[in-house]
Amino acid sequence: MNIQGINIADLAEKYGTPFYVYDFNRVEEKLEELKRAFHVEEKRCEIFYAMKANSHPVLLDLIRKKNIGIDAVSPGEVEVALKAGIAPDKILYTGNFESSGDLARVYKQGVRINLDNSRSLNKLLNIGKPETISFRINPGRGSGKYEHITTGGEKAKFGIPIDQVLQAYKKAQEAGIRKFGVHTFLGSGILDEDHFPEVVALLLEKANYIKSKLNIKFDFMDIGGGFGINYFGEEKSLDIEETARKSLQKFDDLVDEYELGSPHLAIEPGRYVVGDSGFLVTSVTSVKESFRKYVGVNAGFNILLRPALYGAEHDIVIDGKQNLGKSEKVDICGQICENTDIFARDRKLPTVEEGDLMIFKQAGAYANAMSMPYNMRMRTAEIGILDGQEKLITRPENLDDFYNRILVNEM
Ligand code: LLP
Repeated sequence: MNIQGINIADLAEKYGTPFYVYDFNRVEEKLEELKRAFHVEEKRCEIFYAMKANSHPVLLDLIRKKNIGIDAVSPGEVEVALKAGIAPDKILYTGNFESSGDLARVYKQGVRINLDNSRSLNKLLNIGKPETISFRINPGRGSGKYEHITTGGEKAKFGIPIDQVLQAYKKAQEAGIRKFGVHTFLGSGILDEDHFPEVVALLLEKANYIKSKLNIKFDFMDIGGGFGINYFGEEKSLDIEETARKSLQKFDDLVDEYELGSPHLAIEPGRYVVGDSGFLVTSVTSVKESFRKYVGVNAGFNILLRPALYGAEHDIVIDGKQNLGKSEKVDICGQICENTDIFARDRKLPTVEEGDLMIFKQAGAYANAMSMPYNMRMRTAEIGILDGQEKLITRPENLDDFYNRILVNEM
């Protein structure tokens, strides 16, 4: 397999496995595609990249160069975004279960604040009065590819029910805040174009309700992320142009109908930006014929958590065997000492042998970002490819990194 002319097997030879490798030209294409589709230059939409998906500084630098904003979920993310040169007014902080300490930090960092709890406003006002405030509404329903990535609805910890939101905006007005946004996010991994204009309609209906009670004018209305990519076995992919066209149309129509002034739409894509630009390259360590046939690789859920956490499935390539028939069904597992360390069950593959390179596709988002050094199996290297050049952009973690944090060995 090649990425922008760079051979993956050569990278494996040079750096050893496992590692993540990113096609940054692909990321640039996705960013351009989003900007075009959502008419960002014409100021019809503002994009905040959800950096939780992948917060490598190289990626944040690409985001900065494309003049795109950042959706940050913690003061730590805000700090990393600021360090990458993103301007504070291009960062939207959306916390959850915000502590006073968190709020004090992000207030000082000077970024826009989107609150996930009406009570957080009191905490924030004790710290200072922001120029702009927005609140994340939970409209009482959600939809995500898996239950575990559904972020709206009665079982979601996120967002604020509408009655409380109304009180919160009222309080903000009374405190003298004059600029407002409004936010919602129903869930991640959506491949249905019509979902997004529906979320627009849901949010604007709530905004209209708030406006009718408090006569608030909103500067921005943010529908969050959720733009899905194809992983494995999906029948259709998300048409982003159609998604954008329908969402903007719905937005314009309802802004007119409800007389909401001149707000702009905001979106927070994470997965769509980087998901299909990343690959996890592993080596097959052994094949085991037990009650089932297992193929084991030198990475586990500590490196790629999505299958174990959500039952997510990634497309898998055996390097050099792409053209061979898929002659057997195997279970693919990692080396973590847990029985949930399974990447796929009954996956049809060509005959796999020890030493083969197994490449997990769509591993750019929520992949390395969610990794951990469980079992003393440390996090991997990351390699970036841009304009036909490859660079080691993160070294592998090692045991010294573990010991560096240990202060006491004996008590
Ligand atoms: N905005 C907010 C407030 C969010 O909570 C999220 C994701 C996003 C934007 C970006 O959503 P996206 O465009 O990537 O769907 N770890 C899971 C996904 C969790 C999403 C959490 N919030 C996974 O690996 O599928």
